[in-house]
Amino acid sequence: MTTTRRATAADLPFLEEVFVIAMDWNPSTARGAAHWREDATFQQYLGGFPRPTDFGLVAEREGEQAGAVWWRYFTADEPGYGFVSDEIPELGMGVVEGRRGEGIGRALLTAIIAAAKGGLSLSVEDGNPAEELYRKQGFVPVGRVGDSTTMLRMPQR
Ligand SMILES: CC(C)(COP(=O)(O)OP(=O)(O)OC[C@H]1O[C@@H](n2cnc3c(N)ncnc32)[C@H](O)[C@@H]1OP(=O)(O)O)[C@@H](O)C(=O)NCCC(=O)NCCS
Repeated sequence: MTTTRRATAADLPFLEEVFVIAMDWNPSTARGAAHWREDATFQQYLGGFPRPTDFGLVAEREGEQAGAVWWRYFTADEPGYGFVSDEIPELGMGVVEGRRGEGIGRALLTAIIAAAKGGLSLSVEDGNPAEELYRKQGFVPVGRVGDSTTMLRMPQR
C-alpha cells in the first residue's frame, strides 16, 4: 500500500535524493549526486526546505520512502527550468528506481494537484516518458527552454 504524507524538514535528504533522480532521469547523460550537490540548482530548488511557500509530499510504500513531489516559487530574476510566473510554483518529482511503474508517480501528482489552489508548472526534457504522465494529468506545453518543454496546468473551472 502506498501512503502519501506532507514532507517536512526531516525529509530534506530524501527530497535531495529525488532531485538527483529527476535531473538524472536519463541514465546515458546522468551526472550523479556529487555533481548536482555542487550545482547552483541544488540549492535553488531545495535550499532551506520547507520555506513558508514550499509544499511537498512523500510517498511511502511498506514503510520506505518511495517517491516525492514538491513545489517551490521562483522569480523572473532567478527562474527555475520550468518558470512561468512568480505566482505559479514549479514542481520537482521522482520515484526511486525500484518502485517505478507502480502508480506512485501518478498518486503523488494527483495529490499535489489537489493541494494546489492555482496553477502549477514544470519542465520536462525531450524523450522523458514522464511527459505522458503530465499530459494525462492536464499539463499542457507552454514553452521551450533548450531541450526541455515547459508545461503548465491551470485549475479546472
Ligand atoms: C516519472 C516518474 C516520476 C513517474 O513515476 P512512476 O511511479 O514511475 O509512474 P506511474 O507508475 O505512476 O505511471 C504513470 C504514467 O507515467 C508514464 N510513465 C512514467 N514512466 C514511464 C516510463 N519509463 N515509460 C513509459 N511511461 C512512463 C506513463 O504514462 C504512466 O501511465 P500508464 O500507467 O497509464 O502507462 C518516475 O518514473 C521517475 O522518477 N522517473 C525518473 C525521474 C523523472 O523522470 N522525474 C521527472 C523529471 S521531469
